[in-house]
Amino acid sequence: MTQPEHDVLKAAEDHLWLHFTRHSAYQQSEIPTIVRGEGSYVYDIHGKRYLDGLAGLFVVQVGHGRQELAEAAAKQAQELAFFPLWSYAHPKAAELAQRLAAQTPGDLNRVFFTTGGGEAVESAWKLAKQYFKLTGKPLKHKVISRQIAYHGTPQGALAITGIPAFKQMFEPLVPGSVRVPNTNHYRADEITGVKGMTPEEYGLWAADRVARAIEMEGPDTVAAVFAEPVQNAGGCFPPPPGYWQRLREICDEYDVLLVSDEVICAFGRLGTMFGGQKFDYVPDIITCAKGMTSGYSPIGAMIAHERLFEPFKSGDTMFAHGYTFGGHPVSAAVALANLDIFEREDLLGHVTKNEPLFKQTLDDLRDLPIVGDVRGAGYFWGIELVKDKATKETFDADESERLLRGFLSKALFDAGLYCRADDRGDPVIQLAPPLVAGLKEFEEIGSILRGVLTEAWARV
Ligand SMILES: Cc1ncc(COP(=O)(O)O)c(C=O)c1O
Repeated sequence: MTQPEHDVLKAAEDHLWLHFTRHSAYQQSEIPTIVRGEGSYVYDIHGKRYLDGLAGLFVVQVGHGRQELAEAAAKQAQELAFFPLWSYAHPKAAELAQRLAAQTPGDLNRVFFTTGGGEAVESAWKLAKQYFKLTGKPLKHKVISRQIAYHGTPQGALAITGIPAFKQMFEPLVPGSVRVPNTNHYRADEITGVKGMTPEEYGLWAADRVARAIEMEGPDTVAAVFAEPVQNAGGCFPPPPGYWQRLREICDEYDVLLVSDEVICAFGRLGTMFGGQKFDYVPDIITCAKGMTSGYSPIGAMIAHERLFEPFKSGDTMFAHGYTFGGHPVSAAVALANLDIFEREDLLGHVTKNEPLFKQTLDDLRDLPIVGDVRGAGYFWGIELVKDKATKETFDADESERLLRGFLSKALFDAGLYCRADDRGDPVIQLAPPLVAGLKEFEEIGSILRGVLTEAWARV
């Protein structure tokens, strides 16, 4: 190891506080340190190459190392490095807002910029509360969201998050959030107590739980339903056919805002710009972030239906909410250049065309005894690991700990694949490569997974 490498590793060990990380895991080993990327690959501090099977963190849509995005950032920083969107506009934010509005489904025309996804979720809940206060339904403030869903870490977004373990240490959180079942069709028998529901039946059952929750809470107290197009945490639960349409009907019936949290799913992850185009629905609000700049600079947004902006158009009303860096000029410029790449390289078409190939690569792993389910959409897939395929018996907490943390995460990384082994629900491996990936990368992913999962099974 060279001295500069040693210095970086030591600085990380002594001073970095990693996110969602057990630092004890690095007492005996160095913190993996990534220094550069190119296309679908990243390189660590020792020069070893890894396939980026998670696009960083569902972020790097156009792949690593794009010079034109770096240049867009430099050009904007020279022209206007910073100005806030507090009572003032700047050209790149205006242009980006217009471009996003043109690509959303329906009349979602009003863009409130943030610096990331959690802030977008937070903003959406606050808007929902204020909108109803301004329109004569002041009691409407609660939100409905789904079990195991992750919606971010600010205390409002965390209240909406459906993962109890992430919340316990920070209670009490913002009151007024209620959980309903998610769209995990693989576990539908356990969730419903009814055997053999088709995806359509289960989708309607799950959507109707939202209606029951609204009725139980009192429709005049419920402001919004938050759901992802494909739920991430738990391992990529796609919506069964009819699910989003039924959610839309329910929200219309009870005058509740439908918020599509697309922090992961927007910007091509599913092969469409937004989830509504993939699954044929129009929400009232979209929250998004991550892929908007492919990670070359941070930004997020809450995109609201024109009617939600109406009460803010006149008088002394304002949305008393904002972030210094929301809609940062450099990030907005990078986002525009990123969207240019999407168009020029037809990335949406590329993902849609390759989705069946990616699915097939992962479906091929179903012959392994540990692979219980493969599910997802676009370039966003989860593989659920089970102890017994026939009964779908899952691993208990200790086994899961040994399997995922003790073995799989590290083994996959050592084998050259960066992806996620996760047990926020049942144990899953998640894959979401950059949208530029193709057959070669899929084959590499399939081959590494086969080797490591085979070894994992031998250890069970
Ligand atoms: C659906 C969803 N919402 C919100 C967030 C929070 O986004 P951020 O980490 O940018 O605050 C995430 C992050 O992964 C997410 O997946």
